[in-house]
Amino acid sequence: MLIISAIQELRDRLKSELSVAFVPTMGNLHQGHLALVRQAREHGRCVVASIFVNPLQFGPNEDFAKYPRTFEQDCEKLEGLADVVFAPKMEDLYPEPQQVYVEPPPVASELCGAFRPGHFRGVATVVLKLFNIVQPQAAVFGKKDYQQLQVISAMVRQLNLPVEIVAGETLRAEDNLALSSRNGYLSETERAEAVRLYRNLALIRESIVAGNRDLPALECAAIADLEAHGWRVDYVSVRAAASLAPAKTGEINLVVLAAAWLGKTRLIDNLEICLNADKDL
Ligand code: PAJ
Repeated sequence: MLIISAIQELRDRLKSELSVAFVPTMGNLHQGHLALVRQAREHGRCVVASIFVNPLQFGPNEDFAKYPRTFEQDCEKLEGLADVVFAPKMEDLYPEPQQVYVEPPPVASELCGAFRPGHFRGVATVVLKLFNIVQPQAAVFGKKDYQQLQVISAMVRQLNLPVEIVAGETLRAEDNLALSSRNGYLSETERAEAVRLYRNLALIRESIVAGNRDLPALECAAIADLEAHGWRVDYVSVRAAASLAPAKTGEINLVVLAAAWLGKTRLIDNLEICLNADKDL
């Protein structure tokens, strides 16, 4: 496995490759990230993983400075899974102030975008930069960040990028908490409480599958349960899976998404809900 930080060196290394499959990350890797890297192997002869904590996608009061940076352990975990680790230096990726941005679609202003203004613009811009450097045939993104996956897919479609976007399932801990680099911020008590987010999503899914169609009531009940246990909820929302538009009558592919704060840690999660055609919304 090669570890490369210079853009030109990466281009030289990848020039002769027939197909490259790419997994962009911000490091502090866990099994969820590694599952995407394994999945990438099915989509390209050469697997590239990038590690870069992208300042453009963090708001001024967010956790850019304290985001966990564990480069050496990350490289050890990638050994045997990736062929190349691309870890660009800040001054190489942003040698001048970034003034050209990808304007993401309107869906980027909802859900997480409503609470993190500019976040998806920063994500889309860095992912386009990374795509232009790595020039992969395929790139794998986790469903854990469902809205991010939608924004990137829309960018690829609408800007005609020659990249296949592959979606990876969310990996969870034994108690079903979605694996996340930010779980490391949680105290022991918070870690035990954290699974309540998943449980509420699972409850909403169960109720909808069982025929409950009062989505606002389901969303409110989840918010109330979380708040009663000390959470500060950004949103709990049932949406159409394909567009993330509000779920409408007749829909069968839904997703329930949530973001909420436990102490100083913001956790997100989502669950897809597939209804039978005869039991649509
Ligand atoms: P990061 O949060 O490091 O996540 C990298 C990739 O891992 C994303 O595609 C994310 O959806 C996926 N991932 C995270 N947790 C996962 C889990 N439990 N199971 C499966 N996949 C999981 O997302 C980013 O970085 C950045 O926004 C990035 C795309 C790299 C742009 O900076």
